[in-house]
Amino acid sequence: MIGFVPTMGALHQGHLSLVRQAKSENDIVICSIFVNPAQFNDKNDLEKYPHPLENDLQLLISSHCDILFLPTTDELYPDGLDHLRHFDLGFLGNSLEGSSRPGHFQGVVNVVDRFLEILKPDKLYLGQKDFQQVKVIEKLFQITNQPSKIIICPIQREESGLAMSSRNVRLTAEQRENASIIYKTLSFVKNQFKESSLKSLQVHAISMINQAPETAVDYLEFCDAKSFQIIHNWNEAEHIVCVTAVKVGEVRLLDNILLN
Ligand code: PAJ
Repeated sequence: MIGFVPTMGALHQGHLSLVRQAKSENDIVICSIFVNPAQFNDKNDLEKYPHPLENDLQLLISSHCDILFLPTTDELYPDGLDHLRHFDLGFLGNSLEGSSRPGHFQGVVNVVDRFLEILKPDKLYLGQKDFQQVKVIEKLFQITNQPSKIIICPIQREESGLAMSSRNVRLTAEQRENASIIYKTLSFVKNQFKESSLKSLQVHAISMINQAPETAVDYLEFCDAKSFQIIHNWNEAEHIVCVTAVKVGEVRLLDNILLN
């Protein structure tokens, strides 16, 4: 069995938890490091993306990863970045992260599709941290009749509760502390599940996050955890996830929590 963990590098314990889980469930673990230009709609974000390859190699060795796949852009996109395939992702491609970052999810599914074509893993390991990305890749699997299986791994957090992310290194010490309000708020939301109307909880949660210095909520929504449709009343879904994107200074952070 081959387990595959796609990443964009600048590895942290969140990525390594995927590698370790894959290692415990497969004979061989492949990890890829590729900062996929097709999924960056912000050139500045792409240019600022960290590339600490030496450190990443050490971390992969210590996590017992078997194979590192380090492709070039030409290998993955032989027809060039202007000739991406188009996958019909429906509303999943355009809502929330998709609406804030046009084209982002087409870039994600193009690169994941190429990885699967080249590596043919039995299992693909993805973090719940990027909840909408998981839904979009599930959709890709449906469209392409992909035989491998998606394994969703839990969100790894700093002691403060801040979800680990390659972008956290761009936060100052003070911003990092302020960013812990995101998980505090999501935990509060989970605690308040069905205690008040969904709308009033949403308003309260957004103002909790915005009260911290230098933080600005881009969105905080409640979605059906299965379909990822945004819901407005508690009774609209069996399982509910609260998803949020928050700008802390110049850095945009994602987090989510399953409520039931
Ligand atoms: P990247 O942001 O490097 O993340 C690689 C994988 O690590 C994703 O599945 C992500 O959800 C997971 N991950 C990130 N932070 C995590 C955390 N704190 N806890 C658990 N898992 C975490 O996501 C991408 O790269 C790219 O879009 C990719 C799928 C590689 C396609 O280019």
